[in-house]
Amino acid sequence: MYESLPLFVIAMEAEAAPVRKLLDLTGEGNLLAKGVPARLWSNESVHIVTNGSDSRFDVDAIGTLPASLTTFLAIQKTNPKIVISAGTCGGFIARDGFIGEIILAERCVFHDRRIPLEGFMKYGIGDFSVANLHAIAERLGFRVGTVSTGDSLDSQPYDLDFMNSVNAVAKDMEAAAVAWACALNEVPFTALKVTTDLVDGEITTEEEFITNLQYASNRLSEGILSLIHELRDFRTE
Ligand code: ADE
Repeated sequence: MYESLPLFVIAMEAEAAPVRKLLDLTGEGNLLAKGVPARLWSNESVHIVTNGSDSRFDVDAIGTLPASLTTFLAIQKTNPKIVISAGTCGGFIARDGFIGEIILAERCVFHDRRIPLEGFMKYGIGDFSVANLHAIAERLGFRVGTVSTGDSLDSQPYDLDFMNSVNAVAKDMEAAAVAWACALNEVPFTALKVTTDLVDGEITTEEEFITNLQYASNRLSEGILSLIHELRDFRTE
């Protein structure tokens, strides 16, 4: 097993297929653990893991539960130098977002864990530590900003208010869960997201997401390739 490589954690097969094709990572991938649907592909420069398919519902295992389990197991298997939660996201017109925009995290929070109890408020929000990759983002022309995670594709009014309050530029369903598993293992974390839909736009999220999923996943594959190249010299301080 290759060690000290970047590990990309991707939720949906449609998001992962273009980059696997570019990297010639063919086949079914390897299982991480008995009973867990996640799949792992590796070569000498990268590990890519997907959450696999939920056997009860026969759909991709998206969301925070599979993301944290997959990430935890994949870290223990691959001992990566950094973990990247990679996938699609919602963007925000209010912050000049656009379909196909490539975003690298500088902050990562949860927007739907409302726990108004002493001490638990901050626990709910998470605010996980994110690797400082500003120089890389600038070289690659990626936007840097806050990625906000929740388990729903839609955005309730409170979620929107919260995401506005932290200037979120990407709304996804996995990044903060991946960040949590990284924190447990003391492994550097970031998120690389490409916008499929505009959360504060006129078109429904589900319609815009389906329309742009393939385009955004192709953009994601290019973003991942560029990031792998730039991370060659990445070392933990
Ligand atoms: N992935 C792509 N678009 C999303 C959205 N609007 N919310 C959560 N995850 C997403």
